[in-house]
Formats: sequence, structure tokens, C-alpha cells
Amino acid sequence: MTHARLILGEQEYEFPTFQGTEDEVAVDMTKLRGKSGAITYDPGYANTGSCKSAITYIDGEKGILRYRGYPIEELAQHAMFSAVAYLLIYGELPDEKQFLVWREELTRQSLVHESMLKFFDHFPPTAHPMNILGSMISSMSSFYPYDAEDEEKINLNIMRLLGQVKTIAAFSYKKSVGQPFIYPRANYSYAANFLRMMFATPQEEYVVPPILENAVNMLLIIHADHEQNCSTSTVRMVGSSRANLYACVSAGVNALWGPLHGGANQAVVEMLERIHRDGANYKKYIEMAKDKDSGFRLMGFGHRVYKNFDPRAKLLKKAADEVLGVLGRTDPLLDIAKHLEEVALSDDFFIERKLYPNVDFYSGLIYRAIGIPTEMFTVLFAIGRMPGWIAHWCEMRNDEDNKIHRPRQIYVGMNERHMTGLPPHTEPAQIPKNTPKLAQVSV
Ligand code: ACO
Repeated sequence: MTHARLILGEQEYEFPTFQGTEDEVAVDMTKLRGKSGAITYDPGYANTGSCKSAITYIDGEKGILRYRGYPIEELAQHAMFSAVAYLLIYGELPDEKQFLVWREELTRQSLVHESMLKFFDHFPPTAHPMNILGSMISSMSSFYPYDAEDEEKINLNIMRLLGQVKTIAAFSYKKSVGQPFIYPRANYSYAANFLRMMFATPQEEYVVPPILENAVNMLLIIHADHEQNCSTSTVRMVGSSRANLYACVSAGVNALWGPLHGGANQAVVEMLERIHRDGANYKKYIEMAKDKDSGFRLMGFGHRVYKNFDPRAKLLKKAADEVLGVLGRTDPLLDIAKHLEEVALSDDFFIERKLYPNVDFYSGLIYRAIGIPTEMFTVLFAIGRMPGWIAHWCEMRNDEDNKIHRPRQIYVGMNERHMTGLPPHTEPAQIPKNTPKLAQVSV
């Protein structure tokens, strides 16, 4: 297959096609507008390939997810998160020596700039930790400016970001509970360091339970990349203007925050709590999810790409059972989640629309078991996604095909018209007292 033909009116146009290494086919439409004047219309870019990428492969029909060729199941069960971060960013798993140097460097770079610590004092106690994380990362560009061509500095800033994201996250939690910060330690893994910074106090050391360290390690790996999702595309979109790494990644954090994306893990637990308070009447909520007028969606269900099962949800369902089992706990929300999944998977509404539990359906239940507060769930997702954002930013920088992102639109507004009468272009010296508020004026 070398060409695709498009018939538009009386005209026929030919476009080249190309294939990826997993035989995915793309029609190269870059010349469409130049040749025909028309554009493609694809809201949400559901059929649009915005780049070529060698980082992550997903087959949504078969439930396949691979980082740099390695199946997610192998990495999630046998690798360390910091090694997976290295794999995503540099293309290969580190050897033993590279791994030790990398791990040590990540810990060395994990201390937050002393002046930035003061920022924590000025967020209101109600501030969402995702907001704090995004703002802190954005401000890192003031503290660590770098020359866009200096590869060494870029590498240093990559390590700073990876190292500091978990510290900022843990510090924002400590601030919210009014406890002093706990600093990272070189002899701890990435996951264990995060847990210790969250739960140790100056009075009491926190001995990280291996089951929780493994669970967090797995969660971070599972979240580490997912090709051109909303937040990663945001990082690429901002980065396409050659904005600095910190600016791009903080935009990614903000995109991830939304409840239809990474914010879904918090929304899932809030939904399960709501159902629990309502007498665990999960069938009522299935009916509500099917009723478009209710405005209710089954959070943690559905995915733009996975149309069979989400391999990450499969791993996490098992992990949730294991963590609760080892901790000797039961969680009524896990039972509700399993019931919801069972009923939804046998219901025509969900079957026809191929709606399956996604990564966020079970992750929140594990975070809950660990003792992580609900508002921190999406922050954990952001820590995990950091290597993916960085890897895409680096790939885009070196991609000769990369152009500033600038989609087109189809204009559906007013045709040309002209002002009549006096335009309200001069401001009165004083606004009359009885001027209606904007919301009261019908336009
Ligand atoms: N509950 C009920 N109905 C749903 C759900 C859901 N969770 N998700 C999709 N649908 C229905 C829609 O109403 C629509 O029905 P229709 O065809 O009759 O109009 C159909 O399924 C397709 O839905 P879209 O919104 O068009 O699918 P899209 O691919 O745009 O959205 C998304 C995917 C955003 C994940 C959606 O399934 C959703 O809102 N899920 C809940 C939020 C969630 O869990 N987000 C996390 C995603 S994973 C991640 O980002 C890490």
C-alpha cells in the first residue's frame, strides 16, 4: 500500500502512506490543504497521528502496552521505576553500573531549592496538591535556567525534575498536615523514598513495608508513559514552541489534573464513597451512567484507545487484592468496585460502547490502602508520568519533522457584518450606580 486516494467533488487527490514498525498505517495528509484547500476535521484528534514516536506502543484492540518494546507486564513486575525512567528517556534499560550512577544522581538532585521551600508557606491550606506541584515545577525554570542547546545542562535538569517531583509532592502533603519536611535518603529506592518522605516524622521513623514499596513502584511504572494522551500531547504542544522543559512539564501536570484524565483516580474513589454512603446500591449508579441526562459517568470506565481491556487495570486489580490481603484489611469500596465491574461488563450499554475499567479504576483503592489521601492520588500519577513527559519532550526536540503545533479550524460564526450606531468605545468617567452586572445583560 503506497498511496491513498481522496475524491473531493470532481477532483481526485493522491496521498502517500507509511507504516510503523508494528504495521500501523498512516496516510500522510500534510499536503492536503496545499493541494485542495480543504482540511481534515477530527475533534479530539482521535484519528490524527501528531508525530512519529519510538517510545511506547499500544494496541488498544488487543490490550497491548509496551515501553521501548518491553511488555508492561514484565516491567511492572520485575523492574525498578528509576530504571524504567532511564529506559523511556534514553531508549535502553541501564546496565548495573549505569543504574547505580543514575539512582545516586536522582537522589542527589532530589533536594528542593531552599528558596523554593518558602513557596509552600504561601499556598492556602485548601490548595490542591496538583496545583502546588504544577506551580512549583513551573517556578523551577526561574531557579534552574539553561541554554536550550546545552545537552549537559538539559540532562541535569531532567534529573532535577525526576528527583524533585517526588520531594515536592511529599512536601506539599507534609505542609497540608502541618508536619516538618522529611528529606530523601540515598540508600532508598525511588518508591521507598517517596513513602518515607510522606509518612516519617522527626519523632518516628517510617519503616517502609516491602509490599507497599513494591505496589508504589508498580503504580509508578504503570503510569510512566502512554504515548500521545492528553497531558503528553500538551507537553509536546507547549514544547513545539521551544518552551523550556519545566514550562512544558508543568503544563502537562495541569492537563493531567482534569477528571477525564489523571484526575479520574480521585473521582473514582469519590464515586465509590458516594455509592457506599448510598447503601452500596451500585445498580442505581449503573442505570444513572446509562442515562445521558443524569450527567453521571462511571468514573474509571472507558478509554479513548483501549477497546477490549486496559492491561494496566488488570495488573492493578490483582495488586489491590494483594496489598489488602497482606495488610489484612478489607475495603468495602473494593467490593463495590468489583460489583460495578461485573455488572457493567455484562450490560449491553457498556459492551456495545466497549467500556472497560481503565487504569484509574483500581489505582485509587491501592493508594487508599497505603494511607495516601485522596487529593494526592493524581499527584502520584504525575510522579509516575514524569519520565514519559520528559522522554516525549526530548524526542520532539530531536525530531526533524517537528513543527510548531498549530491546528486549523472550521469557522462556524457570523459572516461579515458592520457596526451600526455609536460603538461603546469610550468609558464614562464614572460607572453609574445602577449599571446591571454583565451576567444580567442578555446578549
Ligand atoms: N460512563 C458512561 N458512559 C460512558 C463512559 C463512562 N465512563 N465513557 C464513555 N461513555 C459513553 C459516552 O456517553 C458515549 O456514548 P454514546 O456513543 O451513546 O454517545 C460513548 O460511551 C463514547 O464516549 P466518548 O466520551 O465519546 O469517548 P471518548 O473516547 O471521547 O472518552 C473517556 C474517553 C474520556 C476516558 C471517557 O470514557 C470517560 O469520560 N471516562 C470516565 C473518566 C475516566 O475514567 N477517565 C480516565 C481515562 S484513563 C486516563 O486518562 C489515565
